[in-house]
Amino acid sequence: MSKTAIITGGGSGIGKATALRLAEEGVNAVIVDVDSESGEGAVQELKDKGVDAIFIKADVSKKEDVKRYVDQTVDHFGGIDYFFNNAGISGSGGHYLDTSVDEIEQIIGINLLGAMYGVRYVAEVMVKNGGGSIVNTSSSAGVIGQDSVVTYSATKHGIVGLTKSMVAEYAKDGLRVNAIAPGPTETKMVKEFYEANPKMKENATGGIPQKRLGTPEEVAELVTFLFTSKAQYINGEVIRIDGGFTNTK
Ligand SMILES: NC(=O)c1ccc[n+]([C@@H]2O[C@H](COP(=O)([O-])OP(=O)(O)OC[C@H]3O[C@@H](n4cnc5c(N)ncnc54)[C@H](O)[C@@H]3O)[C@@H](O)[C@H]2O)c1
Repeated sequence: MSKTAIITGGGSGIGKATALRLAEEGVNAVIVDVDSESGEGAVQELKDKGVDAIFIKADVSKKEDVKRYVDQTVDHFGGIDYFFNNAGISGSGGHYLDTSVDEIEQIIGINLLGAMYGVRYVAEVMVKNGGGSIVNTSSSAGVIGQDSVVTYSATKHGIVGLTKSMVAEYAKDGLRVNAIAPGPTETKMVKEFYEANPKMKENATGGIPQKRLGTPEEVAELVTFLFTSKAQYINGEVIRIDGGFTNTK
């Protein structure tokens, strides 16, 4: 029987590339995003690949939206096999003392609370149904400290704690929870961030041993592997995919 995946932030970048890669394995998709145009567009591309796909407009920082996308998924597909807990924002960049408290709240709301609400409601369904596989999106900034992204880095370190601790509680119930920590990857988010902070781009690319950014397709390959039974004994890991960036810091 076909598997079902929820992909948050599935309208663009890493989320969309992952939904399209999973479609090659016959996996049906629920695309969750705040942006209807890109979300509907991703669904069309998925249908063209022959899988069933629906779009649910939701803001992951709102707990009632998160509950709704989980309930609608169960209504439509009957369960959830894979959860790519991926929606996130970088924030505007700049030093912490120049960051407004409103922006701090917004980044934490989307990147950390949004991810925690997602795991809260999705894992409940998975545990009831005998298990499932979750991949949370952390970042290079979730495994090392980085200049100009203090709040972002704090949220992505939080994702690491969420990942490891969920395994301690629910591996016995058939749940696998892993995280990915991509380095700078060619997506809308990173393009906009580097346009606003050009010096960060020079520093980042110069500091990557492979001397290039990653691609969403490379990250999608890793996420797909982590979801499948080929990765069935990998649990609570935080896997870096960054061209050697954080290992050489
Ligand atoms: N691109 C990178 O260099 C990089 C590196 C490490 C980690 N990440 C992480 O990867 C994830 C995906 O980012 P991306 O690079 O593909 O960026 P992206 O901007 O291309 O995609 C992010 C998607 O999330 C959606 N989104 C934003 N806020 C939302 C909200 N409140 N509710 C629902 N959807 C929302 C956006 O509309 C967008 O479609 C993020 O968590 C990001 O922090 C990205």
